[in-house]
Amino acid sequence: MTDFNFWSPTFFAFGRGKESQTGELVRRFGGTKALLHFGGKSAVASGLIGRIETSLESAGIGFVQLGGVKPNPRSSLVDEGVRIAMAEGVDFVLAVGGGSVIDSSKAIAIGAANGGEWRRFYVGREVKVRPAIPAALPVGVVLTIAAAGSEGSPNSVINLEPENLKRAAGGDILRPKFAVMNPELTMTLPPFQTACGLADMFAHLCERYFSPTKDVALTDNLCEAVMRTVVEEGAKVMANGRDYQARANIMWAGTIAHNDICGAGRVQDWASHGIEHELSALYDCAHGAGLAVVMPAWMTYVHKADAARFARFARNVFGIGAGDGDESAALAGIEAFRRWLKSLGLPLTFAELGAKAEDIPLLVKTLNLRGNTLGGFVQLTETDVAAIYRLCVDPRFAQEKGKGA
Ligand code: NZQ
Ligand code: ZN
Repeated sequence: MTDFNFWSPTFFAFGRGKESQTGELVRRFGGTKALLHFGGKSAVASGLIGRIETSLESAGIGFVQLGGVKPNPRSSLVDEGVRIAMAEGVDFVLAVGGGSVIDSSKAIAIGAANGGEWRRFYVGREVKVRPAIPAALPVGVVLTIAAAGSEGSPNSVINLEPENLKRAAGGDILRPKFAVMNPELTMTLPPFQTACGLADMFAHLCERYFSPTKDVALTDNLCEAVMRTVVEEGAKVMANGRDYQARANIMWAGTIAHNDICGAGRVQDWASHGIEHELSALYDCAHGAGLAVVMPAWMTYVHKADAARFARFARNVFGIGAGDGDESAALAGIEAFRRWLKSLGLPLTFAELGAKAEDIPLLVKTLNLRGNTLGGFVQLTETDVAAIYRLCVDPRFAQEKGKGA
């Protein structure tokens, strides 16, 4: 196990009706006037925004509103949010929505606390060490989709315009002060968004599980347990979107998958996320759908680097028979993973996602490796990344030799 610092101060209020406590929670964490930030229409249509307004009013919290966050949140709305937050003197940012709303809120929180500056903290991969974020307004969350895990994470991902680059900022200062998590709020999700969320949380576990670090029994077992839970409870949620207990298990799994309790003490990978972010930047696809295409291709390409680890994944997560050798178990596990994604109705290829093979050079270019490598499990060059994109195009997979072979 590697040495680590782990600081996860978020207060979680989990269960039915918990959103009524939102105003009190804003006050408890120092807010007196909030920017109430939300997405397109779901939170307004469901009446959630109205209930949050009531909760803020009863707690004596002033607020201004800014809706309209799109999936793959745009920098122009962040700029508007920063301007409003500074002009109105807000001291708290309240996100009501999913990863996109939360990440937009985190960016606004940085800008409002740093004289309007936030963009430079969302660096490209050309800068090895990110500038530390000196200050940020406190952020609170009312979560409406189990997916990105931003409600407990120290990260924010924004689509930077006009270049259309999807880039991340990170630092414990961005971990939300609180997250209200009522599984009932996720029952209005369309099946496709529910499925995208399942793929994303599973990917967050894979990015940690596929690690070169040895002697990490606890986090290996934690990752496998959460992955199995996502598969088993995910099936129940897909069969019946109103299954409260399954929704609850999935919602907490999404947080556990990404607040780093499963990743502490391990070298992590994150290549698949980097490769996917270029897809959601260029095609504006859902992040989880992009991951459903990229993750199995990445697995196929790198599995020979540690076939025993992939075999363990196959056996412990997808129940592949113990009698098989490591290489065949590894391949069977990747195939089982693909079947699971397909059963969720997710795309598995570029064509199904709406991506184009002729864009591969552009995708590699905007990834901007500049001679550096991507990934902690296997270090990928631009050539490797292009090969993985090609595997996304061709579902037969076998044409690429793979890394570590
Ligand atoms: O805008 P509305 O109308 O609310 O619709 C949203 C949106 O279209 C809808 N939705 C959300 N809750 C709903 C609902 N529809 C019906 N009922 C509800 N209860 O779902 C759509 C997707 O929302 P979004 O917030 O984009 O989803 P998600 O939580 O998957 O977030 C994805 C974003 O998070 C980033 C991704 O890159 C992507 O931009 N990520 C952030 C991370 C982080 N900050 O730690 C880590 C992740 O790896 C990820 O990169
Ligand atoms: Zn993700």
